[in-house]
Amino acid sequence: MIDPGCRWAPAGGNDLTRQLPSDYVSLRGTVAVPGDKSVSHRVALMSLLAGGGCRATGWLASADTLASLEAVRALGARVLHRGAEIQIEPPTAPPVSGEIRIDCGNSGTTARLLCGLLAGWLLPGGASVVLTGDDSLSGRPMARVIDPLRRMGALIDELDHGPHLPLRIRGARLAGGEFDLAVASAQVKSALLLAGVAAEVEVTVRGAGGSRDHSERLLRGMGVSVDFDAGGDPVHLFGPFEPKPFDQPVPGDPSSAAFWQVAAALVPDSEVTISGQSLNPGRTGALEVLRRAGVHLTVTETGGQESEPTGDVVVRGGDLQAFRISAPEVPGLIDELPILAVLATQCEGKTQIRGAADLRVKESDRIAAMGSQLRRLGADVEDRVDGWCITGPTPLAAAADLPAFVTGGDHRIAMALTIAGLIAAGETKLDDPDCVAVSYPEFFNDLASLQGRANGTE
Ligand code: S3P
Repeated sequence: MIDPGCRWAPAGGNDLTRQLPSDYVSLRGTVAVPGDKSVSHRVALMSLLAGGGCRATGWLASADTLASLEAVRALGARVLHRGAEIQIEPPTAPPVSGEIRIDCGNSGTTARLLCGLLAGWLLPGGASVVLTGDDSLSGRPMARVIDPLRRMGALIDELDHGPHLPLRIRGARLAGGEFDLAVASAQVKSALLLAGVAAEVEVTVRGAGGSRDHSERLLRGMGVSVDFDAGGDPVHLFGPFEPKPFDQPVPGDPSSAAFWQVAAALVPDSEVTISGQSLNPGRTGALEVLRRAGVHLTVTETGGQESEPTGDVVVRGGDLQAFRISAPEVPGLIDELPILAVLATQCEGKTQIRGAADLRVKESDRIAAMGSQLRRLGADVEDRVDGWCITGPTPLAAAADLPAFVTGGDHRIAMALTIAGLIAAGETKLDDPDCVAVSYPEFFNDLASLQGRANGTE
């Protein structure tokens, strides 16, 4: 798929020790990355709580977010979906009988947020909901969300192999409470907040500091009282619980933008502008790391201050230096860690990315996946239980007989390895390029256009 050639030459620029294939293709131009996946999930799911029709623009239509949209449809909402615009008319009441099956596909956000929302929203004695998922999602831990919800009184039945999907949620009267999270997870925090809003009970969540606050921002926009500081801890939800309909613009996804930003830093003579990306302070962690690594960045805020700050980011290379990431910073850039590992292979010195053990239970074991595939390219990567230690810079090269990269069907691994392929000698390919559709269906077309090729062609 990507063949940047196999002759080696010094890259030039500031760092003569860095070597690249001589016929690399620079990335130049502007990309409006697709809508933020986390915000897109929330506008779909949280419309169920609004007392009227909701709308979102810039909405991401990807495999993951469509699972959330299909879920609200299955629960009785009327959905109009046209390109990047959705309109949702929620049902006037939860379904009263029967069992509704919802396939969450590969989407942890759909499954975990729905556990909380449904636990408070379904009627006691009314319809129940069975949540299922693909093999990857069915192996991911759900106890982190089931346990605190049960403390609120939620009725959640484990249907197959313990605290994993498939799960059945039945309606119950919930009590509020205070919760200390074992994992600083925005998904778990959001599940508890949505259960609280649906059941109209006060909830305090501690231990999710630094995690994304999109649920809190949208709830506030809906007129629900929720105390939080950007990325701060704790979050206190106390009502009134009369959520109003919303009309929410969805900013560009910084986790998708990070692939182009690292690519621009790595491939000589590149300059990439991302327009309209989220500058929510809980999502700019990767930009801060890029800056620390010596990458040239210009960030201009252009709007969205009242709900989700948005702006343009221009990136070009620099004199790349090793960097450190530790636990407090991880929730603000968890999804960007695979691509930051690629960056680290070309930074001078020893990069430490630690405090990220949760990467082992994402769509795949991302520590093992990136470690093993980058080593196959010749990178000096040591896996740690909670991250990597990466020494650079090392030239990357695919062996002539290299079978395709193993992505494990994980979209972020596929995209991170594609960017590694741009600076690797020899031909690299992915075993499952289609998995990018989980979050970024147009990824390869955007790559082609940044490389000045006709869309989707080599
Ligand atoms: C998400 C939160 C993060 C992130 C995931 C999306 C969200 O997961 O990795 O891709 O939308 O709340 P955790 O909350 O489990 O860390």
